[in-house]
Amino acid sequence: AEPGGKRILCVGLVCLDIISVVEAYPAEDTDTRCLSQRWQRGGNASNSCTVLALLGAPCAFMGSLAPGHAADFVLADLRRRGVDVRHAVLQPGGHMPTSVVIASASRGTRTILHASGCVAALTLLSVPQVSSVSRPAQPPGQPDRVILRAGSGWGWGPTPAPPPRRATLICAWAEEGADAMGPGGELVHADACPPETLVDTLGAGDTFNAAVIFALSGGQSLQDALNFGCRIAGKKCGIQGYDGIV
Ligand SMILES: Nc1ncnc2c1ncn2[C@@H]1O[C@H](COP(=O)(O)OP(=O)(O)O)[C@@H](O)[C@H]1O
Ligand SMILES: [Mg+2]
Repeated sequence: AEPGGKRILCVGLVCLDIISVVEAYPAEDTDTRCLSQRWQRGGNASNSCTVLALLGAPCAFMGSLAPGHAADFVLADLRRRGVDVRHAVLQPGGHMPTSVVIASASRGTRTILHASGCVAALTLLSVPQVSSVSRPAQPPGQPDRVILRAGSGWGWGPTPAPPPRRATLICAWAEEGADAMGPGGELVHADACPPETLVDTLGAGDTFNAAVIFALSGGQSLQDALNFGCRIAGKKCGIQGYDGIV
């Protein structure tokens, strides 16, 4: 987040989702007429930007795109939501990652067929927010660790202080809500907030993540942030897409 302004940077995937809404999930080798079909901007980081923008948080997307109609579509849609795209990197070639999604209107499930496309990964040093990348040697058996140092104008988290030594772990469990373990080892749970009718669970996790980050960056407690995440994610599950989650 930007010190002071708290602009939230989401780094990761943007892709094209081609969503076919059907009454019921089809059997193999059948021919089904869809209730509706739409293109939607997808990808975890990109979806979280949508939710942050709808919550009123200034946010930016950072990730790779491959040139073509799909990139034009997703960039225009990020701009429409007011997401800062100046750190999106349009690579010179490749194909945009694309998901074909079968969304069941009667059960609210989403079945995703993801093609990861072929697009160059971000070169972190090519973006101004990251001034250095290092990969310190880790003792055997320890997870690999990559250290990103923020360039001028950006910090990590709500304050530009060094990252905490102990992380907060957060895990969402669909209709079972979410659990977290705080930096002191304390356990926190929030129940899910199911909508009256399950309509569309595509992006529920991205919605949850964005809402939790929003709440934490506003200084809320871990418990309040989990509750808020489940409330906004539950609302999302009751509508198609994202309009109306706030
Ligand atoms: N079927 C559901 N009923 C109620 N809430 C749900 C449902 N599915 C998801 N959610 C809400 O969205 C959050 C994230 O959902 P989850 O299914 O874990 O993410 P993903 O999108 O990765 O599958 C859950 O913590 C819950 O608050
Ligand atoms: Mg789910």
